[in-house]
Amino acid sequence: MRVVVAGATGLIGTALLPLLRAKGHHVTALVRDESKAVAADTVVADALDPVAVRGALLAARPDVVVHQLTALRQMSAEAFETTARLRTEGTANLIMAAREAGAAKLVVQSISFATAPLGDPVLTEDAPLYLDAPDPGWARTVQAVAEMERLVLGTPDIAGTILRYGTLFGPQTQYDPAGPFGAMIGRGQIPIPSTATGVTSFLHVQDAALAALSAVDSDVTGVFNIADDEPAEGATWLPEYARLLGGPPPRQIPSDLAEKALGWFANYQLTAMRGARTDRARTELGWKPTVSWRHGLASG
Ligand SMILES: NC(=O)c1ccc[n+]([C@@H]2O[C@H](COP(=O)([O-])OP(=O)(O)OC[C@H]3O[C@@H](n4cnc5c(N)ncnc54)[C@H](OP(=O)(O)O)[C@@H]3O)[C@@H](O)[C@H]2O)c1
Repeated sequence: MRVVVAGATGLIGTALLPLLRAKGHHVTALVRDESKAVAADTVVADALDPVAVRGALLAARPDVVVHQLTALRQMSAEAFETTARLRTEGTANLIMAAREAGAAKLVVQSISFATAPLGDPVLTEDAPLYLDAPDPGWARTVQAVAEMERLVLGTPDIAGTILRYGTLFGPQTQYDPAGPFGAMIGRGQIPIPSTATGVTSFLHVQDAALAALSAVDSDVTGVFNIADDEPAEGATWLPEYARLLGGPPPRQIPSDLAEKALGWFANYQLTAMRGARTDRARTELGWKPTVSWRHGLASG
């Protein structure tokens, strides 16, 4: 098949291109900076420019469009806002252009941890999203995710597959031992709230790319959680990751001081966030994770 990958120069995109080529697909990378080397034919467009995206997809004539666009190499408020726009405007641009170019399928990166912190510690794809999160930044992220998913699943004539990735780890991610969180955890700079029962479902970048490959090759559509086999409470993964990095155990702080010390999101992750069940991806997509955080987090 002819596959266009938007976000081909990113961590997941870079891992995905060789997997697609090895399966015999004709791959075209949609890039915004022509000078970046990619192992595929290229078309050039800023995803937020509808005219450029239309021209790029009409030139590439894809059967499948894969959307792996984020601006999250930086963890700033601006990067989250740009990512929200990539999820809403960027997705709308890709959909409009994909329809005109005759594509039959969209495969789109979403997140598994946008669910509201209600009910079981580990949730399925049917759980409600945290649209009314008390933190305005996180509410904006979740609302953009919901809008993206609605656009993709509601597009007539194009089959949509949403991959809700868990918290990414692996080389060059935030959780790389040399990355921002990894380095802070290794130095004992992230304290742990006294009740750290929030659950994180992690996902290695290579497993994220393998899930995207399964989605491209499958006729199945819909929403799929994609995460490792070991959803873990903060009280489990944070001290274990510190130990694997050879760092000191995280300092415990009273729960009522934790939000001030950690910031809203990290405190939420450690105390209230829910993990993700992946049964649907296993049975319907035929995908399963190859590495868990316990074995891969500290090796980058
Ligand atoms: N589930 C998760 O935990 C999660 C999800 C997303 C991201 N992240 C974090 O973000 C980092 C990277 O992950 P990733 O592979 O998803 O993202 P990434 O490596 O930042 O890649 C994003 C891709 O989107 C492209 N892009 C961004 N804005 C664009 C625009 N306006 N037009 C066209 N292309 C645009 C980038 O192109 P350029 O190369 O030109 O910038 C790049 O190819 C990691 O550190 C990860 O931890 C985590």
